[in-house]
Amino acid sequence: MIKKKQYRITEVKEAKQVALDYLKLFELDKAIEFGLPEIDDRYHIWRVPLLSKNNENIGEVVIDAITTLINEKKSSNKEVLESRLLGRKLNNTSKKMEGSDDENGSTPKVSNLRNTVGFGDCEELLSETPNESVDLIFTSPPYFNARPEYAEYLTYEEYLLKIKKIIHQSYRVLNEGRFFIMNISPILIRRSSRSEASKRIAVPFDFHRLFIEENFEFIDDIIWVKPEGAGWATGRGRRFAADRNPLQYKPVPVTEYILVYRKKTEKLIDWHIRKHPIPELVEASKIEDGYETTNIWKIHPAHSQKHPAIFPLELAEKVIKYYSFKNDVVLDPFAGTGTVGKAAIKLGRRFVLFEQDPEYITIIQEELHSWLQNRVNEVNLINLELTKNKTPFLNFDVV
Ligand SMILES: C[S@@+](CC[C@H](N)C(=O)[O-])C[C@H]1O[C@@H](n2cnc3c(N)ncnc32)[C@H](O)[C@@H]1O
Repeated sequence: MIKKKQYRITEVKEAKQVALDYLKLFELDKAIEFGLPEIDDRYHIWRVPLLSKNNENIGEVVIDAITTLINEKKSSNKEVLESRLLGRKLNNTSKKMEGSDDENGSTPKVSNLRNTVGFGDCEELLSETPNESVDLIFTSPPYFNARPEYAEYLTYEEYLLKIKKIIHQSYRVLNEGRFFIMNISPILIRRSSRSEASKRIAVPFDFHRLFIEENFEFIDDIIWVKPEGAGWATGRGRRFAADRNPLQYKPVPVTEYILVYRKKTEKLIDWHIRKHPIPELVEASKIEDGYETTNIWKIHPAHSQKHPAIFPLELAEKVIKYYSFKNDVVLDPFAGTGTVGKAAIKLGRRFVLFEQDPEYITIIQEELHSWLQNRVNEVNLINLELTKNKTPFLNFDVV
């Protein structure tokens, strides 16, 4: 049973703040006042009444008290609030879900985002990213406690909640019917003493639930296979190799998942191709012979002295080629050294990279020159003036 002490929102002012952030997304924060928020313990939700300046009730924001996320299905949406503020009846056509538009009347949106590098927590940076401004997300998240340099979360539940919030924001910034692709694998928690057993956590299966809860549709599980010998460093299977006792058997992991999800839409993939506003880009994005025909991709892992867990460039290139058009915007919210950015530019796409570690941001900044040459001045840098002043090694001129 859920106890009240598990609530992350316990006070009226916290509920109002979350509701205010929701209204800011629609630029309605100045036009609307709040009534008195109430907690509903049966469903673990806060209800924040919304009032017009004349004190008329025009709707409510419903917030999950445990996760702090807005329940968008139960909260009044932008169209409803705007029409009630103006005292108008809701027009039936504007009630329609965007995804159910008449096929002939709409075309896919073209994002106007520039190549962007943002320094900071990606949850925050995502919350400032416009709705439906990104065409593909490809990332590999920080692994829970897998390596001491990443260990940032006290419990696995805290870690999952953070990822849930990031998936939630990602849904909003992703264009209709586009893909969120996550590279992830189970992790091994090493035993802390000889008397304890090591533990494996099936992170991909927990992530799958988060994606589904956040309204994504499951599309594919691609298995990235590394050449034999790749997993021996984990130490798995050594004991069995020596003793050969049943029950001790443990295979050496040489695979990772590339999980493919799609933002829900009623439109068919074909709509994105037929209705693309620039047909020449569709033609130029066609994939040449030699593409992966099955869900088993054999790719050598990449190693870097600068970062403990980088993607192979080949992996990023395959994902970008198969799941985006030229000129599309590709986002990596956990960018590391920016492999996704490098692949995006190589393939004629734009990139948005978020990273919170100043060391890796510096590497991205240094790399920008070789990726973009004289176009480097066009990159939109977020929060980087601050870094520059704080860390002397960030002596990069483009701000
Ligand atoms: C698995 S690594 C990604 C490596 C990347 N694919 C590459 O090729 O270099 C995950 C990265 O996420 C960053 N990170 C962790 N939590 C973050 C957060 N809340 N916001 C932004 N970046 C974060 C870590 O610093 C780390 O560099």
